[in-house]
Amino acid sequence: MSSAPIGVFDSGVGGLSVLGEIRARLPGESLLYVADSGHVPYGEKTPEFIRARSQAIAEFLLAQGAKALVLACNTATASAVAELRERYPALPIVGMEPAVKPAAAATRSGVVGVLATTGTLKSAKFAALLDRFANDVRVITQPCPGLVEQIEAGELDSPRTRALLQGFVAPLLDEGCDTLILGCTHYPFIKPLLRELIPADVSLVDTGAAVARHLQSLLDQHGLRAPLGEVRQTRLWSSGDLQKMQRVLPVLWGEQARVEPLREPPA
Ligand code: SIN
Repeated sequence: MSSAPIGVFDSGVGGLSVLGEIRARLPGESLLYVADSGHVPYGEKTPEFIRARSQAIAEFLLAQGAKALVLACNTATASAVAELRERYPALPIVGMEPAVKPAAAATRSGVVGVLATTGTLKSAKFAALLDRFANDVRVITQPCPGLVEQIEAGELDSPRTRALLQGFVAPLLDEGCDTLILGCTHYPFIKPLLRELIPADVSLVDTGAAVARHLQSLLDQHGLRAPLGEVRQTRLWSSGDLQKMQRVLPVLWGEQARVEPLREPPA
């Protein structure tokens, strides 16, 4: 048993979609969340940059006492999870990956679309995922530049977000996709809008709930679950504009909360 917190991070506020799933599945656990909004989006950055940011944030979370790490960001996972696991071999570390396996099993048309960042789609990790699970289906990938920024701004249903999303999904639907993978943790926040733009029989697949389940089983394996009856705490940090994050919290996190400035030691 351990009442230490779980450390979670993302390039910005998108990982709150995963944090919400963790809170729902593990209500007794204390949570730490870092939004690296000062450097969002990761999707167009180099793998070296993303690895350096992920390392710095992991160190920060460990210094706060984190007993496990969750990379609530597909792009950071693609670039940095292997290195973090090497560096901290005893630490439970959970990453995200586009849900290719369940999508390939679910498609009836045999055509699956993947909405993700350029960084995720270009990564070796994603290529390996396709090799492993997508041999019998056609996978069409769609980078979504600009979408993360809209969600960071809390624009979940503005005319610009709608136009961007329409432009991203239309070619996938034209090709006969009946299953769309949300390959970025920001995108679950625009599911209601996406639902309006796609036919009712097109399925949306994301991995937040599966990640929370995986985290639960890792904590169990390591004997790290919080004792019953603990008072749990959630702390949030941002490397970007604190007020901006505070403005979007009621919508993305369901409640207002204090956001602390991320102060990192000089590199
Ligand atoms: C981004 O920062 O570009 C998106 C992060 C993600 O891939 O989840």
